Amino acid sequence: MLYPAVQDKAIKKEDLFDFKSSSFNKEDLTFRDLIYEDNNSSRTKDIKALGDHIKKNFKRYVVVGIGGSDLGSRAIVGALKRKSNTEISFIGANTDPDQISDFFDEIKKDLDKTVFNIISKSGETVEIISVFLYIMDFIKQNLGPSYISKNIYITTSSPQSSLYRVGKKEGISIIEGESSVGDRFSVLSVIGMLTAEVMGLDSREFLEGAREIDNNCSSPNPFSNDALMFAELNFLSYKLYGKNIGVVMPYAEKLRSFAFWYRQLWAESLGKKIDINGNIVNTGITPIASLGSTDQHSQIQLYNEGPNDLIVTFIFGEIFDNNPQIKTEIKEFEYLNGKGFRELISIEREATALSLRENQRSNGTIILDNMPSKGLDPKTMGGLFYFFELACAYLGNMLEIDTFNQPGVEKGKEYMYTLLSKPGFEKEKQVLSAKLKNG
Ligand code: PA5
Repeated sequence: MLYPAVQDKAIKKEDLFDFKSSSFNKEDLTFRDLIYEDNNSSRTKDIKALGDHIKKNFKRYVVVGIGGSDLGSRAIVGALKRKSNTEISFIGANTDPDQISDFFDEIKKDLDKTVFNIISKSGETVEIISVFLYIMDFIKQNLGPSYISKNIYITTSSPQSSLYRVGKKEGISIIEGESSVGDRFSVLSVIGMLTAEVMGLDSREFLEGAREIDNNCSSPNPFSNDALMFAELNFLSYKLYGKNIGVVMPYAEKLRSFAFWYRQLWAESLGKKIDINGNIVNTGITPIASLGSTDQHSQIQLYNEGPNDLIVTFIFGEIFDNNPQIKTEIKEFEYLNGKGFRELISIEREATALSLRENQRSNGTIILDNMPSKGLDPKTMGGLFYFFELACAYLGNMLEIDTFNQPGVEKGKEYMYTLLSKPGFEKEKQVLSAKLKNG
């Protein structure tokens, strides 16, 4: 990403700057507090005990969430091998009627062995409330009302919310989410960590990996702080050269969902209309979730020859469990004989990076290493999540915006309630009707 590797619109060493952590407000780094949770704290023990209970009693654990209540768990499930017998499923991130109908048809036969975790920080999100109501009715019809409190949990950090109140009334156990941590920064809280425990993984290892990154990323100097360096490369590419697109491209199928987690983190945290001083800035870096080697044959043409307005970050490392070998005696394919797929995918990443460099496109690789065993492990995933969270916080601070709010999401929610005629939105309905009448 740096000059002279890339010369056109490249960041020079002298552009990089020291960053004082005193520029953060205390409440900015609440996601950091999560990772310093003591291994023996009652919270850690509760997550473990609940995970054990679910593993012992249920064949299927269903995450019912959207946005930050969903994407972190998906990234964990995609990246790591499940060690328990409890299958993990997801519903609620889309109100697609066919998806909902097919899903419930599929799980009907094992419904008594299925447990749902309804996750909503606000406890008001209409997609989640709708699916929650559907689940309650489905359980009532198929198993009977007594199963509602046995087969449903609610995770929320809003005791005032409708979800919390209805849950209490129905006798459903409520798991308390961290109220100070925004959804998209919550993967290392109970929201993601319960999923990990149900998978038979040790949630403490995720936190250990995150702490390692935190320790290594505390210097004000970007050359001794990788998360800061990553943030500065994004920031300077944007500010100096208008590169307002950030592609994250893991070379591993198992990190496909991680790229989607990153996409939400970057989009909702950094895309803002107003800066901290109240000026209209309409700022942001558009995140693209890409995947190697698949997208070499779909996206790379644009990255190489389209507008020079992006930076590409590959994620790679010794993260594979297997290495199937190619064996052939066919003359014209001899160059592939004896190659393992590990070598092949590694060469593909390298070749793509070289082609980007040749075309003067900023790119870099985050290399996952130092894993105790081959393959991806919870510690590395914890570190990877935290690396991006920290870099995002740095970047938001440099852009002088509120990284942790999402007024653009709230507006859509407000209109949805208005159109659905939710009580309390009568005035908005009148205003909207008048607006629509006037075209
Ligand atoms: O990260 C965010 O803040 C949002 O994307 C939320 O995750 C999303 O809107 C769902 O909100 P909630 O968890 O309150 O249901």
